[in-house]
Amino acid sequence: MRNFDEKTITDAVIERFAKCPDPRIKEISDALVRHLHNFVREIRPTEDEWAYGIDFLTRAGQKCDDKRQEFILLSDVLGVSMLVDAINHPPMKGVTESTVFGPFYVNHPPEFKLGDNLAGKFEGEPMFIEGTVSSVDGTRLAGATIDVWHSDGIGNYDVQQLDKLGGFAGRGLLKADANGKFSFWTIRPVFYPVPTDGPVGELLRAQARHPFRPAHVHFMLHAPGQERLVTHVFADGDKYIDSDAVFGVKDSLIRTYIKKPAGTAPDGRKMDQPYFYLDFDFVMRPAAARKERATQSKAESSSTIAYTPK
Ligand code: BEZ
Ligand code: FE
Repeated sequence: MRNFDEKTITDAVIERFAKCPDPRIKEISDALVRHLHNFVREIRPTEDEWAYGIDFLTRAGQKCDDKRQEFILLSDVLGVSMLVDAINHPPMKGVTESTVFGPFYVNHPPEFKLGDNLAGKFEGEPMFIEGTVSSVDGTRLAGATIDVWHSDGIGNYDVQQLDKLGGFAGRGLLKADANGKFSFWTIRPVFYPVPTDGPVGELLRAQARHPFRPAHVHFMLHAPGQERLVTHVFADGDKYIDSDAVFGVKDSLIRTYIKKPAGTAPDGRKMDQPYFYLDFDFVMRPAAARKERATQSKAESSSTIAYTPK
């Protein structure tokens, strides 16, 4: 076959996949070429524009290292991460909704006891967070693990300022007690910009978009027999709550971070300054629910790309 033109080139490429032995790879390859060719036919790029696109992707790759993943960020700001989330975690009555994982999780975070303070050297206002972890039938999940991470009171994560802080802050791993309850102290997070010093920042500026995410605390929960839950609890009233740069906000995940006066905190601690209080009860989805869904991909559902400290 020769002499392909604008119309015939797509089928010619797809025909080359005819002997692909893995049906899923064939399905993905066919769709990739069909959509990519249709995209090019629709936008009709000049050669300079196409070269710019290649250069953009090249620079995105060059920006990636063990602490920075520009392609995940690109997927986030284009809404693809939340589309994948919507496909893989459709709402289930009573179950806490999931949202985007983000790039700031650290493998093997520091471990804490219930009631401890995870703040490290973070600056900002104190915040007490408590809640419960249950399964959808209401059973409290004793010993569920609760991974927490969030920004400081200025809008930076610890991994963006490790030299200044001298170690991790605003993150930790806790285990729920025998009644599925958890509590800890930390610093109230505020809104912050996604990293804008790379090609994704260039894209946001070109699209006249702001880079901010509303204030939130990240949670990742694991419990035997339950599907991993990756979610956030967002601050009600945040100025970016309706324009999250990565489209992660869901109504059910918004709570008031309540300002409390100095005095005795819910855990009995005497506070000589005002502090914030957040209460959230998590409900996990049974692991079996996932296997029943037709949309389940071959990929391991709990896979994540995260910074592993050396
Ligand atoms: C985050 O919430 O940590 C985050 C999520 C997506 C992109 C950048 C940051
Ligand atoms: Fe975040």
